[in-house]
Amino acid sequence: MANRRPKISIIGAGFVGSTCAHWAASKELGDVVLIDINGDAAKGKALDLFEASPVEGFDSRLTGGSDYSLTAGSDVVVITAGLPRKPGMSRDDLLATNAKIVKECARNVAQHSPNAVLIIVSNPLDAMCHVALEASGFPRERVLGMAGVLDGARFRSFIAMECDVSVEDVQAFVFGGHGDTMVPMPRYVSVGGVPLTQMLSKERIDALVDRTRKGGLEIVELLKTGSAYYAPAASTIQMVEAIVRDKKRVLPCAVLLKGEYGVDNLFVGVLAKLGAKGLEGVPVLELNAEEKDMFGKSTAAVKGLVDDMKRLGLN
Ligand code: NAI
Ligand code: 2OP
Repeated sequence: MANRRPKISIIGAGFVGSTCAHWAASKELGDVVLIDINGDAAKGKALDLFEASPVEGFDSRLTGGSDYSLTAGSDVVVITAGLPRKPGMSRDDLLATNAKIVKECARNVAQHSPNAVLIIVSNPLDAMCHVALEASGFPRERVLGMAGVLDGARFRSFIAMECDVSVEDVQAFVFGGHGDTMVPMPRYVSVGGVPLTQMLSKERIDALVDRTRKGGLEIVELLKTGSAYYAPAASTIQMVEAIVRDKKRVLPCAVLLKGEYGVDNLFVGVLAKLGAKGLEGVPVLELNAEEKDMFGKSTAAVKGLVDDMKRLGLN
């Protein structure tokens, strides 16, 4: 990373993008650029946030607009541009529209920030990672998808509520694609060091797993006009922080697997080590037969979407 403040660009200044900007700036992770096809809205949100900084006492320059030259030389670029889900829509319904948007954004980003690490947020997440990888021409180390931190955070929240303990003491993660087939991993959940399987019955654990799988839908049905953004943005910024601060964090993210878990050339959620170079390792867990089966179904669902995109000429 350059010997200056990190530069973080966020493409798409809607609910997720602007909330990412808020958290990145308030954590002083670097200077933040917000880009949107609605350039004035991006510029206005960036200015509004910057005007909060004297009150909140954070040092982060925020700028915005529609011109990608503002993003030049970014260290990390987050792509949130695209349509969100409305009630009755699945993440996959967004495929064609968002593929075009993400392709255009990733090309522009690569032109102005050839060394950036890209974090994709737009849905359907795993498929959009493929679009961004292809359009940017970046190596797999620098194209990551955000979903596992969010799905894991939802799982952790529901476990904390159920066990009536602090969220700080709950460790949990979710594997697989960011869709109905995602694979929460109860066998690896720890509540202050105690395995969840020793704390709750199978029925209660199954209910928490089910709620996690439907966690995005639960918020869509409550908001009615769009999808979740606080937890998605917080999760994205945890990944950004791991990269700009070279933290070597092990977080669940969508990464292009190259043989790990027997999967080749497919983005899917697994544990990944994140540092200044982006993806710095894929620690491989031993899955039991049930986990392997669920992970296999989830990777098949992602592959189905990627094949659909190829068939429709979308990437
Ligand atoms: P939003 O509608 O509030 O924001 C999207 C923004 O993208 C809008 O401001 C729009 O003007 C902009 N945009 C559209 N086309 C563009 C283009 N070609 N170039 C630049 N900007 C463009 O939606 P929200 O809630 O912020 O969600 C954004 C995306 O993130 C959606 O696809 C949503 O499904 C996804 N998402 C993914 C999550 C995940 O876990 N991976 C979690 C939450 C949301
Ligand atoms: C979520 O999980 C819609 O993917 C988005 O909230």
